[in-house]
Amino acid sequence: MSTAAALLDAARAARLNAHAPFSKFMVGATLETADGKIIAGCNVENATYGLTLCAERVAMFKAISEGYRRFIRVAVVADTEKPAPPCGACRQILWELGGDLEVILGNLTGETGRFWMRELLPLPFDARLLG
Ligand code: THU
Repeated sequence: MSTAAALLDAARAARLNAHAPFSKFMVGATLETADGKIIAGCNVENATYGLTLCAERVAMFKAISEGYRRFIRVAVVADTEKPAPPCGACRQILWELGGDLEVILGNLTGETGRFWMRELLPLPFDARLLG
């Protein structure tokens, strides 16, 4: 199992790959799989703005496309004063594909935060409701 610090370091490194020419807001995210693999993503913006993908979703879709299905943690790093949590859309995707992950947040000054997905998305809409 990786440490939270290692997961944050990998997210910090992935952040440098962000394609964020419009917002200039660079984000890195890492997922830890149940078997200890780290999958990284960064935000990828689009001139239409709406087609932009956040770092968390890029990491999750990369992981799914590589065959991973079980995850234990996600880390997110952005250059914010206080560590930034995932946006609402990413919370939905992380919940549906990752479940109740541990969420580690970080910034560039070493401040960190730790949450569970169930705290960030307390009343989720998910497959259980579809019957
Ligand atoms: N962004 C992320 O990558 N993750 C989040 O959870 C919030 C926002 C990106 C999307 C966009 O490229 C930029 O940050 C500004 O919103």
